[in-house]
Amino acid sequence: MAGGRSKIAVIGAGNVGATCAFVLAQMKLGDIVMLDIFEGFAKGKALDMSQDGQVLNYDGRITGTADYADIAGSDVIVVTSGFPRQPGMSREDLIGKNAEIISQVGSGIKEHAPDSIIVMVTNPLDLMTYHMQKTTGFSSERVVGQAGILDSARMTHFIADAVGCSEEDVQAMVLGGHGDTMVPLPRYTTVGGISIDQLLDEETIQAICERTASGGGEIVKLLERGSAFYAPGSAAAIMAEAVVKDRKRLIPASAHLNGQYGLDDVYIGVPVILGAGGVERIIELDLSDSELSSLQASGNFYKQQLSELLGY
Ligand code: NAI
Ligand code: 2OP
Repeated sequence: MAGGRSKIAVIGAGNVGATCAFVLAQMKLGDIVMLDIFEGFAKGKALDMSQDGQVLNYDGRITGTADYADIAGSDVIVVTSGFPRQPGMSREDLIGKNAEIISQVGSGIKEHAPDSIIVMVTNPLDLMTYHMQKTTGFSSERVVGQAGILDSARMTHFIADAVGCSEEDVQAMVLGGHGDTMVPLPRYTTVGGISIDQLLDEETIQAICERTASGGGEIVKLLERGSAFYAPGSAAAIMAEAVVKDRKRLIPASAHLNGQYGLDDVYIGVPVILGAGGVERIIELDLSDSELSSLQASGNFYKQQLSELLGY
């Protein structure tokens, strides 16, 4: 913490990074540094956001840079640098280019912000989170990936729409990898404490689960260039807030598994407690045989990709 104020760095000042920084500024969490390989891009966005301080009533410094020395002393680093997918691409198609970017970024973080907690966003999320942990050598609880808040928020939105209720009353749970193998869990999803099977028929629930799993792709198709960023940027900001304020939020996030759910040495979405120490606890839910086998299939898919595509 710099002089009592929190400091948050956002790597990549593109769509997701800038959205995250903008949400963080409005949360008044502390000073924000946006780093991008295009220095002017980061500086220009930081200046634009700074000039919104009076209008939106936030304080704290927002700066842009291309120099890793400027992230020194950051409590949290949100990593969004990397290519987004285009129509017709899966998240896994981004692996080669984005792995190189994460290697560079990881080295910069390791050298200049060795005590930070890293929230990964770059896709393919679960693989890039693993790669970041290996590149920095940080203990695994200090490197966590954002996907579960976004995927659960998408499911929440579809449920609120179908039930005709406020989004605030829905609590959805989506685990597994951030890709086609993700595992929406209707059995752990409630509206105002009521199980969703009392409010929606089986066919509607199934359709919501399928739309959730392809939720990112639906937006890529509509945008025709790039991918979603408002909800992803906000989700990453919520994770940074959980760390900076030590909120101990119970949220789904990509965490390193070491035997939990029968999976070993892989990052995948599971419920965690997120606080000042990063992933302070992994919660092991009581899953049915079919839920557990879907989660294990997802984890094993990423384990195979780590070995085949990244050589781990
Ligand atoms: P974008 O193209 O708008 O921004 C990416 C930024 O990274 C660009 O400004 C670029 O200059 C910068 N960059 C590239 N190489 C860099 C390097 N070596 N060092 C520093 N900065 C570098 O892309 P967008 O839409 O912001 O997406 C960013 C990433 O987040 C993509 O990989 C995307 O797939 C992923 N994503 C992940 C989500 C999740 O839930 N985990 C949700 C949405 C996007
Ligand atoms: C999303 O889910 C592409 O991962 C990004 O929107």
